[in-house]
Amino acid sequence: MKFFVDTADVKEIRELNDLGLLDGVTTNPSLILKSGRDIVEVTKEICSIVEGPVSAEVTATEYSEMMKEAAALSRIADNICIKLPLTLDGLKACKALTSDGHHTNVTLCFSANQALLAAKAGATFVSPFIGRLDDIAFDGMDLIREIRQIFDNYGYETEILAASIRTVNHVKEAALIGADVVTAPPATLKALVKHPLTDKGLEMFLADWAKTGQKIG
Ligand code: G3P
Repeated sequence: MKFFVDTADVKEIRELNDLGLLDGVTTNPSLILKSGRDIVEVTKEICSIVEGPVSAEVTATEYSEMMKEAAALSRIADNICIKLPLTLDGLKACKALTSDGHHTNVTLCFSANQALLAAKAGATFVSPFIGRLDDIAFDGMDLIREIRQIFDNYGYETEILAASIRTVNHVKEAALIGADVVTAPPATLKALVKHPLTDKGLEMFLADWAKTGQKIG
């Protein structure tokens, strides 16, 4: 499973990348706002840190304007993945950009039929939003399950990028179902390592080691 981090915070991205945990980055207009930085400047910096795909989202809603924004975003770096909304114009742009050799991420996916359309448009990634479905009392994981089955039925190569991940259990469930990628906030990715028995066990080993009076190396 690939791990993307869902942030435009360069410090956090650098830290996770140095840990060897990052396969890519996803951003969106809300995350750019949160960063307080210029979209081109911050995206360029992110692309220089991470080797994998960095999703940068268009904000136009009409096809030809989307294509203009996509051209501007793709000039930022070679590893830019153009993020497009799951609308008819977004799908049309996805088809055109994919045919042109660009990587694409179709976002704001809340139904299996929407994911099917993204796959038919040749999207590199489709982003079903787990947490936002859970927020309205649906089960976001049911959507991942449905998309996995549909893509496997027809051999679609579009990767399922589980987004709007809020908990470590979301990560585990998405992995069990077979999502190809998970994008999560930095804190959630770092929390995956946590287990109280690991902390307790390490504490005991270190205490016993100190009693031996030995040193390695
Ligand atoms: O990148 C989009 C998605 O991950 C947003 O998550 O928590 O705002 O629903 P959230």
